[in-house]
Amino acid sequence: MPQNESWRWLRRPAGTTPRIAFGADYNPDQWPRAVWDEDVKIMRAAGVDVVSVAIFSWARLQPDEDSWDFAWLDEVMDLMHAAGIGVDLATATASPPPWLSTRHPEILPVNRLGQTIGPGARQHWRPTSPIFRRYALGLVRALAERYAGHPALVAWHVSNELGCHNVYDYSDDAAAAFRTWLAGRYGTIDALNHAWGTAFWSQRYGGWAEILPPRLAASHPNPTQQLDFRRFSSDVLLDYLRAERDVLREITPDVPVTTNFMVMDGQQAMDYAAWAGDVDFVANDHYVRPGPQAVDELSFSANLTGKLARRRPWFLMEHSTSAVNWQPVNVAKRPGELARDALLHVAHGADAVCYFQWRQSAAGAEKYHSAMVPHAGTDTAVHRAVVALGQTLADLAPVVGSEQAPARAAILFDWESWWAVEADSHPTSRLRYRREALDWYSAFLALGVRADVVPVSAGWDGYDLVVAPILHMVPAPLRQRLERYVEGGGHLVATYFSGTVDENDHVLLGGYPGALRDLLGIRVQEFRPLLDEEAVTLDVGAAGTMWTEHVDVVDPAVEVWARYTSGETAGLPAVTHRPVPGGGSAGYVSTRLGADGLPGLLRRFVSVAGIGDELPAGVRGLVQLVVRRGPDAEFWFLVNRTADRVEVPDVAGDVLVGRRSTGDVSPVVLEPREVAVLRRPAS
Ligand code: GAL
Repeated sequence: MPQNESWRWLRRPAGTTPRIAFGADYNPDQWPRAVWDEDVKIMRAAGVDVVSVAIFSWARLQPDEDSWDFAWLDEVMDLMHAAGIGVDLATATASPPPWLSTRHPEILPVNRLGQTIGPGARQHWRPTSPIFRRYALGLVRALAERYAGHPALVAWHVSNELGCHNVYDYSDDAAAAFRTWLAGRYGTIDALNHAWGTAFWSQRYGGWAEILPPRLAASHPNPTQQLDFRRFSSDVLLDYLRAERDVLREITPDVPVTTNFMVMDGQQAMDYAAWAGDVDFVANDHYVRPGPQAVDELSFSANLTGKLARRRPWFLMEHSTSAVNWQPVNVAKRPGELARDALLHVAHGADAVCYFQWRQSAAGAEKYHSAMVPHAGTDTAVHRAVVALGQTLADLAPVVGSEQAPARAAILFDWESWWAVEADSHPTSRLRYRREALDWYSAFLALGVRADVVPVSAGWDGYDLVVAPILHMVPAPLRQRLERYVEGGGHLVATYFSGTVDENDHVLLGGYPGALRDLLGIRVQEFRPLLDEEAVTLDVGAAGTMWTEHVDVVDPAVEVWARYTSGETAGLPAVTHRPVPGGGSAGYVSTRLGADGLPGLLRRFVSVAGIGDELPAGVRGLVQLVVRRGPDAEFWFLVNRTADRVEVPDVAGDVLVGRRSTGDVSPVVLEPREVAVLRRPAS
């Protein structure tokens, strides 16, 4: 993972008391002027101190190629400054105005079927379009020059959720840029032919000009071409981010630059581990999708975001006060969820808590999306919860600046494996990379054991236990790193379909999992995926679904921890564990056990790794512990995972948020979904 040496937080006037920033996307250009004054009043009462402005304002700021209208934004900036509210000013390039797409329809993206994506929604631009870039950077420059010295400006917000709708563009601009990118990666066409395995299906290329993006084809397009197109698509958006950032840095070198990542379920396309070094601080957007693991998923995403931020504070740029508008059914949040969701992000290192959006729109595609000020106004449960959260965040001022405290266990996360695993033409189309990783995270939560989610390219060598869920792509340097980790006393657990291919998506021959075979002391002859209605039993009581393997033990030191007891693999090893001289070990799980089936097995791996308990026995699984640490103190966030009241005995510390049942040493009382925060001496 590239290192971000230039971490810089929001610009604040000297002498400002540190606090967790609180606010929202603010779209005053959707409202009459009189509403702005009311907005300011309500913002101040709610403790709002930062807003993101002008995210979708291009058409207003530049009504035509040669005309500009900054007057309204000047007024908003002044108004915010007078109210003591900082502005995270957007570069406004996310949604090109109609005049631009009319004059230059060649900025519009093209999908893999060759259909042009029309204007009329948002983000209808090609990441590789030189014309789009010229206009967009012109706007960035105009904004930077105008607001360079404005006292309200605390940060720059590049575009918005880069790649949310336009990451995969198959246009001719994309084709040309793809060829350039490939020439940079491979140098020669022969090297590309080797990497793409073009001897298969008569795909050999005679020159760069013959290469296209993986457009609609008669059957599965070349898998390495597909993988490279994913790499390329993430890289060109990163390149675009850099282009905007560089204009901003040239004109306002003292103002930090960020963009809002989308580390959340359903957002796979941007390799944020490769992006994180290119912003001054990491910002993330997160939306909860209903389901049994919804809160675990929030925690998983926030945990990973903190690692992208190198454990330093990060900015929660968007989440929702209640329902969104883009799911099949948009469920409103229940009592306690607004605060819990926000504080779970803070627990994982967020030093800013912001929403989409400030005032719920009366018109447009997001009019039914919740906001800090709902349609029904301030006399609402949602707004009261917002105001209460503003107070809670003020109480958490001592937490500001503290970092994510490392756990002793880690789950590796790898965008390239994610892309490769979920490609077509595989043994099953049912593989879901992030779901497997989340299941392990949920299993740790069920045991009450803290675990981190760490990009594979980051530092994980110091953890006692490392789980590698479907770590499918293992190039030689990663293989060596994993071997060194285990030889150095680390405990590794890999799952099914790991270690199978190299960086070109070529199978490592001789039996799966080629890259990890020796380390694990096993050899897999054949994958045996299951039909949806099938399940197999294991002699430890758990059931496997979706995937099984024919595993042979090769190294006599390997212990078989579980065997299949039904199905075609009955009698064969399902879970193995190889102790390694030096105290480390390498374990393997060859089937999908799911969030409910994993905890029993995980308990064994946790105990082999010597990881002790931090929470009292009675509350493990009911309460999640997340820890931040500062120079003199650490902060324990106790999160009630249940809809019942839970009392947590035997935890020392000053209560910053929450309460104890009676005196100083009595149990911490957590109401349903409540989060308490304790300050404790640094350990
Ligand atoms: C985000 C986007 C916001 C808003 C929000 C709704 O993807 O950045 O502008 O659309 O979703 O949930």
